[in-house]
Amino acid sequence: MSLFRAAIDRIAGYAPGEQPQDSGWIKLNTNENPYPPSPMVVEAITSAAKGRLNLYPDPLSTAFRRAAADVFNVEPDWILPGNGSDEILTILTRSFVDSHELTVYPYPSYILYETLADIQGARHARMLLNPDWSWDMPAANKWLENARLALIPNPNSPSGNRWDDATLQELVPPQGVLVLDEAYGDFADTPHRAEMLRSPLGKQMVITRTFSKSYSLAGIRFGFAIAHPDLIAGMRKVKDSYNCDAIALAAATAAISDQTWMQANVAKIRTTRQRLDAALRAFGFDVTPSQANFVWATHPDRSHRELYEALKQRKILVRYMVYRDVAWANGGVLDGLRITVGTDAEIDTLLSTLNDILSK
Ligand SMILES: Cc1ncc(COP(=O)(O)O)c(C=O)c1O
Repeated sequence: MSLFRAAIDRIAGYAPGEQPQDSGWIKLNTNENPYPPSPMVVEAITSAAKGRLNLYPDPLSTAFRRAAADVFNVEPDWILPGNGSDEILTILTRSFVDSHELTVYPYPSYILYETLADIQGARHARMLLNPDWSWDMPAANKWLENARLALIPNPNSPSGNRWDDATLQELVPPQGVLVLDEAYGDFADTPHRAEMLRSPLGKQMVITRTFSKSYSLAGIRFGFAIAHPDLIAGMRKVKDSYNCDAIALAAATAAISDQTWMQANVAKIRTTRQRLDAALRAFGFDVTPSQANFVWATHPDRSHRELYEALKQRKILVRYMVYRDVAWANGGVLDGLRITVGTDAEIDTLLSTLNDILSK
């Protein structure tokens, strides 16, 4: 006899990327930023640690919401902070999708969306993307008609491509909410500034953002949602009272206030991304032009799993991804390597190691 809800017994649970705890790895598997956060962050954490840790943090995250509102040109009541953007995605699923209602998401993309729907006891559907990562709109529209929540990473993972605003506006479910998961938004050519939320369809849209990528703070756990205050007020009812701790709030407020530092790191990563893209092509890989801090690479005649294993043996970790039920892929299985853009030195080591492996 199981004590668990049937919905929990049915699922395997989400498997995050490998996080080795020993040293010496070149870690290019979970899209962390290779550069340190702003020195202002370390100062803010130190002074928060010396401060009032015996008291609960501000349940409304007022200082952070003010700072984020300035950056996105909205009022603070358009912002909802969370313990990583994954928590925001949990809050969204709990807020908008009842059991047996429908969550939809593009496929291949971020599989966590499916796990969150499963935990909620909701249904989910995959909107299969075309081989060039564009949308099959008639097929997508059939699912969107009945969806309460559409979750779309933009830029997408694992592909790194970004869809334009006109395409995204066509993906708002008529009876539901469109979430644009902009975890990688700062790495794109046209960073988003929330204008779309002020359009007539904006009342059915939420943008999510993370501090794990462009702000170099994956270890802190902080993300936030931007949406019309009516949506934010409802979502606030669902969150834990103190979902962001005092240390994370201090760190995130300092980080978002130092845009110069973040943008300088983003610029370095974008330059390295271009070099990585060109070098992988020269090795014979197909590479999707990326708007994120990683690239999606497939090789026409080498085993992706073997390449991943060979790199891992040499302490270089990239992400080997496999997607099943992809109708247009060979045998229905699409696999490939998702490689995070590291420092120039890390990418040099990756490339020379790959060169050795490929020449054997
Ligand atoms: C598309 C996408 N959304 C959200 C996240 C989660 O970010 P966070 O660290 O803020 O929970 C990730 C992490 O890799 C991601 O790839």
